[in-house]
Amino acid sequence: MNKYFTKNSILKLLSGMSSEKEIRKYLERFSSDEYRFAVIKVGGAVIQSDLENLVSSLAFLNEVGLRPIIVHGAGPMLSKELEEQGIEFSFVDGQRVTTEEVLDVAVSIFTRENLKLTDALKEEGVKAVSLVGEIFECSVVNESLGYVGEVVETFSDKIKDIILNNGVPVIAPVGKTSDGQVVNINADKATLALASEISPDKVIFLSDVGGILDENNNLISTINIKDDYERLMTQDWLHSGMKLKLQQIKLLLESLPNNSSVSITKPLHLNRELFTDAGYGTLVKAGHKIIHSNKLDENSINNLTQILESSFRGNLVEGYFTTGNKDFYLSTCNRAAIVMSYQHDIAYMDKFAVISSARGEGLGNAMWNKMTSNHNKIFWRSRSKNSINNFYKDVCDGFQRHEDWNIFWVGITDTEELTACINYASHQMATITYES
Ligand code: ARG
Repeated sequence: MNKYFTKNSILKLLSGMSSEKEIRKYLERFSSDEYRFAVIKVGGAVIQSDLENLVSSLAFLNEVGLRPIIVHGAGPMLSKELEEQGIEFSFVDGQRVTTEEVLDVAVSIFTRENLKLTDALKEEGVKAVSLVGEIFECSVVNESLGYVGEVVETFSDKIKDIILNNGVPVIAPVGKTSDGQVVNINADKATLALASEISPDKVIFLSDVGGILDENNNLISTINIKDDYERLMTQDWLHSGMKLKLQQIKLLLESLPNNSSVSITKPLHLNRELFTDAGYGTLVKAGHKIIHSNKLDENSINNLTQILESSFRGNLVEGYFTTGNKDFYLSTCNRAAIVMSYQHDIAYMDKFAVISSARGEGLGNAMWNKMTSNHNKIFWRSRSKNSINNFYKDVCDGFQRHEDWNIFWVGITDTEELTACINYASHQMATITYES
């Protein structure tokens, strides 16, 4: 791959939306295994209404050397065609009942839409390879649904071959049974089966809506299954289609490595979602276990030191853990830590660190939520040039600048108390030292 070409195309597409360093971090991460970058599910409606953005986002990935595996649906077009031909159809549990008549139309519509996407990609220089009915071996589990297949085997070798030859597989949700009968597969199910087989870094759902919306129709930026799933499933504003999707995503994440994640976004925002920490869409992660403890044994001291030193790019002063009255929060993936100190009457957040490769996953948020659930009042400080200040400004109740430091607080309303806290924070010795 030509480095300058890559650099220019990155700058062209992403300039102004993020730092180049951030983009390069993701580029490196996604390039680390050419076959396992991503499975992208393209909703049928997207091919119909947003083909241009879809193709240009995918062409960009191709330009920087990333080859996703694409699975698409065609539901809305199939319904329209069936209506036009006067063929009756119905759904049971979200699955289309597929009679022989419906199947014929389905296969022709899937093929048509598949070629529409494949051809559009080819025109942009992507070596797209159309795959209709060649990837999934299925069995018919529920006879009452007709010719609807459940995936029993995924022929991933074929996909691998295509990718290793710099191609991009474009797969229609059509399978065959062991005796050669063609069957219709729910496109989400096909995507999930494929993703479990391939274990990609990312599974991406491209839809018109572009994410999961909260009760005020705002995009939910990150969902951490461990912390958020139960609560979300009981909300009446989350409609049943989304609940089903979230349920499927939860199952999928259980079968993927812990650092894999699912993103839901729209074609226009795909690259921003992929190449920035903040993203643009909904990121769903399995979630990390966070332990809270005051047992500063050798093992936790080692882990904490590593996290703190790597994320602050400095050295912790000798005896840091043995001075003061401290406890800590540590993610079991050993990539984020919070150290609290209780020398003052009110809890002081002495350190909050997320190592750079873990930023943008919602891990920092999860740590923050866990820690704040234990305290009504907290104060802390951060160097005024630290990039985390935007986050702090969002979550704090107030802050004050003090020379090199910003001092933040939550839950402290009494002026005297606040003055004492600010005084305490501004007089703390720095506990990270930097080599000059
Ligand atoms: N670029 C990262 C990724 O694709 C982080 C995305 C964050 N997205 C979000 N909606 N919070 O994994």
